[in-house]
Amino acid sequence: MERDVLPIYEYRKELVQAVKDSNFLIVTGETGSGKTTQLPQYLHKAGFAKHGMIGVTQPRRVATISVALRVAEELNCSLGTTVGYQVRFDDCSSKDTAIKYMTDGCLLRHILADSNLCQYSTIILDEAHERSLSTDILFGLLKKLFQQKMCSGRKRPLKIVVMSATLDIQKLSEFFENCPVVKIPGRTFPVKEIFCNLIGPKNLEGSAYVAETVKVVMDIHLNKMAGDILVFLTGQAEIEKACNLLFTKGESIDYQYDLRDQSVEGLLILPLYGSMATDQQKEIFHPPPAGVRKCVLSTNIAATSLTIPGIRYVVDSGFVKQLNHNPRIGMDILEVVPIAKSEAVQRTGRAGRTSAGVCYRIYSKDFWDQCMPEHMVPEIKRTSLTSVILTLKCLEIHNVIHFPYLDPPEERHILEALKQLFQCDAIDRRGHVTQMGKFMVEYPLPPNMACAVIKAASVGCEDLLLPIAAMLSVENVFIRPGDSEKREEAERKHQALSMEAGGSNDFATLFNIFQQCRMSTSPARWCQQNFVHWRALKSAFSVERQLQEITRRLKQMKDFPREKCEGPRSEMLRRCLCAGYFSNVAKRSAGTTFRTMEGCGTMVKIHPSSALHGQEAELEWIMFHDVLVTSNIFVKTVCPIRYEWVKDLLPKLHEVDVYELSSVAREAVTEKEMAKWNIKEGLKRQNEGALEDAL
Ligand code: CDP
Ligand code: MG
Repeated sequence: MERDVLPIYEYRKELVQAVKDSNFLIVTGETGSGKTTQLPQYLHKAGFAKHGMIGVTQPRRVATISVALRVAEELNCSLGTTVGYQVRFDDCSSKDTAIKYMTDGCLLRHILADSNLCQYSTIILDEAHERSLSTDILFGLLKKLFQQKMCSGRKRPLKIVVMSATLDIQKLSEFFENCPVVKIPGRTFPVKEIFCNLIGPKNLEGSAYVAETVKVVMDIHLNKMAGDILVFLTGQAEIEKACNLLFTKGESIDYQYDLRDQSVEGLLILPLYGSMATDQQKEIFHPPPAGVRKCVLSTNIAATSLTIPGIRYVVDSGFVKQLNHNPRIGMDILEVVPIAKSEAVQRTGRAGRTSAGVCYRIYSKDFWDQCMPEHMVPEIKRTSLTSVILTLKCLEIHNVIHFPYLDPPEERHILEALKQLFQCDAIDRRGHVTQMGKFMVEYPLPPNMACAVIKAASVGCEDLLLPIAAMLSVENVFIRPGDSEKREEAERKHQALSMEAGGSNDFATLFNIFQQCRMSTSPARWCQQNFVHWRALKSAFSVERQLQEITRRLKQMKDFPREKCEGPRSEMLRRCLCAGYFSNVAKRSAGTTFRTMEGCGTMVKIHPSSALHGQEAELEWIMFHDVLVTSNIFVKTVCPIRYEWVKDLLPKLHEVDVYELSSVAREAVTEKEMAKWNIKEGLKRQNEGALEDAL
């Protein structure tokens, strides 16, 4: 598509001027109007990059890389030069980079190292309507930066642009000191909405909608006039399943588990999800060969982050995968939930970009009325805040309750985060970051894992733990083919890999896969033979190297902890994991059921994918990494542990004084005030030692 026909083109002068004139600016416009790819280029051309980079944040990793690639192409430069990107564990930028696309999480980490963002002239917070946790925190931090004139370290004020498809613009403008708003009118064609009534309010269970969605796609393909199809599903596994079903329906050719580039009688089937390789994604934007209909099966990413040209039909499953905090388990869990009505409208709009289109909603009007909320709840109100609260504390923002949130999270969620940080020694009883907390924040890992890694480094067995931390940081490594014969073969191979690692520790299995693949003379072939995703392993190798670098640097610091730990290595590994994950410990209660130690305890079962599934009778205590909620609560990635390893840690789960932390959250109280407060409340614990006694 020519850049000068994009709706944003006519506004280029006005936009550049508006950025010059105001510290804050809001830009809104239909998805596909050119905000993400064009505005940074206009600013670059106007000379903004002379005084620092133009940083553009995205909530999603894939979109970050994809748009950077596109803009590099448009500017005719190779990625990593004038245009670069940075996502967690992957930095493709250099000193020449003028326009840098990055995830919002990455920018948060930059602020830790440089609170004035001196390297940047402009920050564009893109996809603001997604309201990701990091973007919301960045809103507050950037606002604070101006309020407190924290920019004094800068020669010129930082320019901040917030871009969004649809959002409560009024609210956001008020938040940023009534800043100006530039609206880019959309150019869209009418889209007919059809409720297919295949899913109603009653059948929410399971993923029946995948088969229904595929039916609708085949129906369009066989009966409707030319035009590409965009299908919204929730995640990788489901998308692969749908692709398989489409092939089978089309009496497909030989089964292949690499689904790329496959077509069924004039239907080109292309998956699009977060963990896909970049070159694979590029195909999505290419027009299909003549006479072929393109069908893209995507996660929510195609709703606003990426615009696929040529779409005439949208098939909406009505569901999305969302990270939600589950108070029963005290953890964030990925759940499949109905989308909000506003999101459904966004999805519908994708069909009307180049001509009139049709949106097939596989659900019924009743489902729309009864199951779909008006708007999506921002992430900050539904996920764990532990990581971001630690970041704020490290930025010396103690009053985390009265931080300028666009939508404040519930106080009890903030307290929960403080409690968890206290439990892993990241903050002290006054709510100040400890040395441990400062080490933890150096790792781009969740706090529990950072804690386990530091423990391992302190006893000198990081060579065991870093590969595991890396394997758990990348996407799923196991390939599970759709074809039943192949699937059995894959299961046998996976089982063998687990047996080689002792047969009763899923973490050790991951370690074994990492090592075997690394030692192999032909790692890609090794992966293929063992039904392991080579690309995931490649990322794991790179992640491990980066974690090693961080560890090496931290170990040189004089106050890095050093401990002695005796015992066999397999035991050391599990003990280190326990140091970070003692909140994920469970004891067998009856049969195959275990009870967790957090709160009042939750009943969980070991997921069938674990090596420990079927060995429950021989187990007493277990530690797990993640949780899956279906009709049961399952724990995944599990290992057996001994009570002695956690007995000193477990009391921490219950002995935190929430009242105390709440006062700490409001302000960093002085020692004296604290003592007074303690007496008033009749609490005798006035020093750190007393708390230890209480445990
Ligand atoms: O950010 P916004 O949704 O306003 O638009 P954009 O992402 O800048 O996209 C502008 C145009 O570039 C759209 O028509 C996209 O289809 C196209 N584009 C593309 O062809 N390939 C990409 N990798 C990214 C965008
Ligand atoms: Mg965009």
